[in-house]
Amino acid sequence: MIILAPSLLSADFAALGSEVAEIEAAGADWLHVDVMDGRFVPNITLGPPIVQAVSRHTSLPLDVHLMIEEPERYIADFAKAGASVITVHAEACIHLHRTIHQIKELGLKAAVALNPGTPAVAVREVLGDLDMVLVMTVNPGFGGQAFIPGMVRKIREVRAMAEEFNPSLRIEVDGGIAEATAPLVCGAGADVLVAGNAVFGRPDRAGAIASIRAAAES
Ligand code: DX5
Ligand code: ZN
Repeated sequence: MIILAPSLLSADFAALGSEVAEIEAAGADWLHVDVMDGRFVPNITLGPPIVQAVSRHTSLPLDVHLMIEEPERYIADFAKAGASVITVHAEACIHLHRTIHQIKELGLKAAVALNPGTPAVAVREVLGDLDMVLVMTVNPGFGGQAFIPGMVRKIREVRAMAEEFNPSLRIEVDGGIAEATAPLVCGAGADVLVAGNAVFGRPDRAGAIASIRAAAES
């Protein structure tokens, strides 16, 4: 089962309540929330108060992608704000195993993200502890960037490791996902698709979700 997680980053930030309600009615499975600190990535977005406000307008699981340094300092706040899944970057965590368990002890699903320059093997030692690995298909920081085709091989590598260490692992992809790229990543083993521009950037959000889903399952 493919999960479609539209990214709030491409929504109208001045109308988040109605944007979120619309995307839920349009058939989204999860809502992907991009948190950026201006340090780990060059952009700054939002924090726990906005996540909490958004959570009051939707029953979709909130998939919180932390593109921040020292994410362990903020995990409890995002949990309290209503996150269902928390993703930390491998590159941002000195004690990755401890941080993953911090997320799980709060009763949430734990995921680790890999930048395009980080190899799949960076998650091998913690794979058995994870619910999901996020393979970034662009360099994080901005929506609307072009998909990096070389990441398809990395998705395949993570899926192969998962077969050995964690067969139920989900693999999420984020960046440049649309009808043309969904079949490539799903064919390699991804099953959670984040899409910003390809969903929120179109007037017919339900149509966009349906056509990306159809492409993914083709
Ligand atoms: C990028 C973010 C993505 C972004 C994807 O740093 O992590 O979630 O919103 O946007 P698109 O789908 O437009 O590439
Ligand atoms: Zn993201």
